[in-house]
Amino acid sequence: MEVVVLPTYAEMSKAAAAIVANVLNEKPNAVLGMATGSTPLGLYQELVRMHREEGLDFAQVTTFNLDEYVGLRPNHPQSYHYFMHENFFKLVNIAPTNIYIPSGTTSNYRSFCDWYERRITECGGIDVQILGIGSDGHIAFNEPGSSLSSRTRLKTLAKPTIDDNARFFEQREDVPIYAITMGVGTILEARTLVLLANGKNKATACAAMVEGPVTSMITASALQLHPDARVFLDDSAAGELKMRDYYDWVRRKKPDAPQT
Ligand code: GLP
Repeated sequence: MEVVVLPTYAEMSKAAAAIVANVLNEKPNAVLGMATGSTPLGLYQELVRMHREEGLDFAQVTTFNLDEYVGLRPNHPQSYHYFMHENFFKLVNIAPTNIYIPSGTTSNYRSFCDWYERRITECGGIDVQILGIGSDGHIAFNEPGSSLSSRTRLKTLAKPTIDDNARFFEQREDVPIYAITMGVGTILEARTLVLLANGKNKATACAAMVEGPVTSMITASALQLHPDARVFLDDSAAGELKMRDYYDWVRRKKPDAPQT
């Protein structure tokens, strides 16, 4: 796992966007795994800027989103469909037919989930998966106790997640209780993982993810099992890391390292 701590949210977002841009420059038809939440907004803004000012091209790109609330229609302002459309898809030249987001309103969740997994495989697998982290250490909606080999499925949200997300809804009762989410196993199959976290309220979860044991109680800790996981944190999210000095040292020394 590569841990990169940067002083500000803006720098963190730019560093993560540069990884996505590099992949697209090398593979214009790359498959991107998209995340929602407030954390990746800066990354999306930077990709949109690169598209407008530097010609970063999404014409051949395919995307798969991590998750969606059950029961929200795509035009619901809190649905992840709506979020992605407003904050990213409508701002770049991605083909609508290449966009995949789990359905929150299918009549058959099980067969939808199987189809979603199959589509990821048929499209060649995910090249770069963008991730945030919940305050309880979840990735996507893989709540504590999710199998580390889980696949796309319906999950019941944990109470802390409902509390965290209540800020986006008029009242707590409006927050959906179920979600459809890629599994931890699905996420681990992406070729590169890019996880972003900022703010003090993520510090405990980030320390558990990076330095704690691999456990289904903190599903983000599964990133320790991945051969190319890159974690971008701002200073506050890195506040509880015990090995912070070492991560900074590794970064400083990286340019001088022998080429492998
Ligand atoms: C939700 C999403 C996660 C996201 C998390 C953190 O639970 N399912 O994918 O990482 O929220 O969101 P935020 O970035 O707003 O803190």
